[in-house]
Amino acid sequence: ALKTKVAGFEFDNCIMNASGVLCSDVTSLEKLDQSAAGTFITKTATIEYREGNVKPRYYKYNIGSINSFGLPNMSIDYYLDAVKQFQEKNPNKTYFLSVTEMGEDKIYDILKIVNDSDFEGLVELNLSCPNVEGKPQVAYDFETTERILTEIFKWFKKPLGIKLPPFFDMSHFDQMADIINQFPIAYVNAINSIGNGLIVHDESVAIKPKQGFGGLGGSIIKPTALANVHAWYQRLNPEISIIGTGGISTGQDAFEHILCGASMVQVGTALGHNGPQLFERITQELEAIMTQKGYSEIDDFRGQLQYL
Ligand code: DHB
Repeated sequence: ALKTKVAGFEFDNCIMNASGVLCSDVTSLEKLDQSAAGTFITKTATIEYREGNVKPRYYKYNIGSINSFGLPNMSIDYYLDAVKQFQEKNPNKTYFLSVTEMGEDKIYDILKIVNDSDFEGLVELNLSCPNVEGKPQVAYDFETTERILTEIFKWFKKPLGIKLPPFFDMSHFDQMADIINQFPIAYVNAINSIGNGLIVHDESVAIKPKQGFGGLGGSIIKPTALANVHAWYQRLNPEISIIGTGGISTGQDAFEHILCGASMVQVGTALGHNGPQLFERITQELEAIMTQKGYSEIDDFRGQLQYL
């Protein structure tokens, strides 16, 4: 009942992990692959291996989380190789590969590596990492985003989605939608963590990098996530799928994201806290809500948010 399509690719379950959580190595990816999730996305890869920021770099409490990992990852070669193995084992399953780089030229470099590979799934370009010191969240710079997308779509041949940071102003949604709608983008994933929050613990910041500033996740960001999903749903060409991410830990949360327009939903903070068996619970809860309301497919209510 939870089957879905993103950019024409079919998935048995519309629920999956959010990039960054439980997806940094083959062992973790194997657990996601074996879980009830529809598929997985890898940790955002860069060209070279990265150690990431100093620890502690993650802190979680009941209503949210803060992180400043700083893009630790095993390198694009590692994830391309890993996903290739899953692809060969499960030729009917589509996987997501997340990539980014610091600086425009290196973004093109990593996408050329992916373009030349035999990866057959969906590529996610992360334009919204808030945790590398001195490097802005690219998508907050509209001109740069437009220039990057213009260049990429001259030669990139694989289906490409983009991971966006949250926006908070209607004119920003308008401006960014005008840019995105110019390109054959496969999907938009909203949202990345709310950048540069700060959590106080005792009389100190809760994490060490960047003097405590880091990306917020978990239940506290759900209203912002839903607003972003729906704002894109209202503005983007209908050919562009929407993935909803932010504040999902129950079937009800997933239902709300889909109602706002998401075709797929991703679980981050709650997955980190509960592990991959969480997908079974969220799946059952979402199916129960749908049964109770008389919906047999997610397309029966996707985007059908009512206004007063
Ligand atoms: C990291 C955090 C993000 O929100 C992101 O999009 C990419 C990387 C990190 O700190 O590792």
